[in-house]
Amino acid sequence: MTTLVLVGLQWGDEGKATIVDVFAAQSDVVVRYSGGANAGHTVVVGDEKYVFHLLPVGVLHPDKISVIANGVVVDVEQLFVEIDDLRSRGLEIGDHLLVSSRCHVTLPYHKALERLDESLRGKQALETTLRGVGPTIVDKVARSGVMVADLFREQLLLDKLRRNTKEKNLILERGGLSERFDANALVQQLRPLSERIRPFVADTSKALADYIDRGKKILFEGAQGTLLDIEHGTYPFVTSSHPVSGGACIGSGVPPTKIDKVVGVLKAYCTRVGAGPFPTEDSADAGKLLGERGKEFGATTGRPRRCGWLDLVALRYAARINGIASIVVTKLDVLDVLDEIPVCIGYEHGGERLTEFPPEIDVLAECRPVYVRLPGWRQSTRGLTDVAQLPSNAMSYLERIEEEMGVGIALVSTGPRRDEMVVLDQDLISF
Ligand code: GDP
Ligand code: IMO
Ligand code: MG
Repeated sequence: MTTLVLVGLQWGDEGKATIVDVFAAQSDVVVRYSGGANAGHTVVVGDEKYVFHLLPVGVLHPDKISVIANGVVVDVEQLFVEIDDLRSRGLEIGDHLLVSSRCHVTLPYHKALERLDESLRGKQALETTLRGVGPTIVDKVARSGVMVADLFREQLLLDKLRRNTKEKNLILERGGLSERFDANALVQQLRPLSERIRPFVADTSKALADYIDRGKKILFEGAQGTLLDIEHGTYPFVTSSHPVSGGACIGSGVPPTKIDKVVGVLKAYCTRVGAGPFPTEDSADAGKLLGERGKEFGATTGRPRRCGWLDLVALRYAARINGIASIVVTKLDVLDVLDEIPVCIGYEHGGERLTEFPPEIDVLAECRPVYVRLPGWRQSTRGLTDVAQLPSNAMSYLERIEEEMGVGIALVSTGPRRDEMVVLDQDLISF
């Protein structure tokens, strides 16, 4: 087996980065395939905490190749903020990073447009990360986008920016925002960044095909989560790209026939940042306790995450959409103090019981969760590494997840650090 896709099964922040970091150790190449600087991926190594937005977590392993593939939109300035931050901490990013020449570039006007769009939505605001990712992808689909390759073709770049700034300035003016953008000024601003990014730029789909031919192990690092997918998530309260496993193919140019395995990451409870329906949200004390114990604050925006309980209706759906072969459960330790743990096994809607995740957002918003209450274990699992040490009620909790989802759990994380993991089934994660 040479290729493995790791995807988030909820609304993002499942703890994917820690798991990517663990799998990266046995990979040769780590690939980001979707999203942009909206991601917030935290890895704790010893006493050091790293937060990545654009860079693949793989860069923490200088002996591996890290790839920002075509499906990622690149804010070049932010990219170098991250690279410089790592450098100041003693980690040099050299020729082990590749950036696709086909990535679309996030420009300052995208961020201004996003602020306008959010303000015009008023009470229906999506509560995005305001990183300009959505408007960058809008331009891509409108066939007006600036690609990384364009950064080295100044006349073409200027032509594109002239057309785009004309349009964006009109929109901003009509929207009552004071910001205006000038094509020449943007070209000047981009020039040093273009020179800095040039050595990293490559034909990454070709590079990945060559690595696969040579039997190298490729790990696809999911960003965001299944329920935020533009096609399959809780539209319109979604991100603008494809976090699902299928997105790994579109976002990298690696064909579906070359994907060997998909592993889904889920948090032992559930969180959501930003607006949109969340049937198992708990706004009372128990939800607050989850937030406090799990330190649930957005890694990109610092916003408190909404917290609630495991939703097996949504998770069964996510398992189906991604075709997962196994599961990783994170943050089990956060539940350690609870007497009993509600787990949603169905929804009630209009007097009917639903077992499938409804595709219509208004139906989902009206669904009331049907809970079973599983007994808690009331003892610390923090930092456990041995399956024999897991309390029996914690094992029952995990077994219930496996039964309901029809997929086995391979790994359970019990703390934010690399080594705080219990392996339940080595075969399911062998790679
Ligand atoms: P991602 O976006 O899916 O990579 O997740 P984030 O990095 O946004 O959020 C996960 C947070 O939980 C980070 O602060 C991690 O350090 C932390 N974390 C990850 N796994 C565990 C775990 O097993 N237990 C605890 N307590 N924290 C964890
Ligand atoms: P990681 O990779 C959690 C959410 C935003 C908002 C919606 C749209 O850390 O799991 P956007 O800026 O993408 O247009 O915002 O998506 N969102 C995330 N929520 N984790 C993320 O990434 C997210 N990336 C975007 O909060 O609701
Ligand atoms: Mg995150």
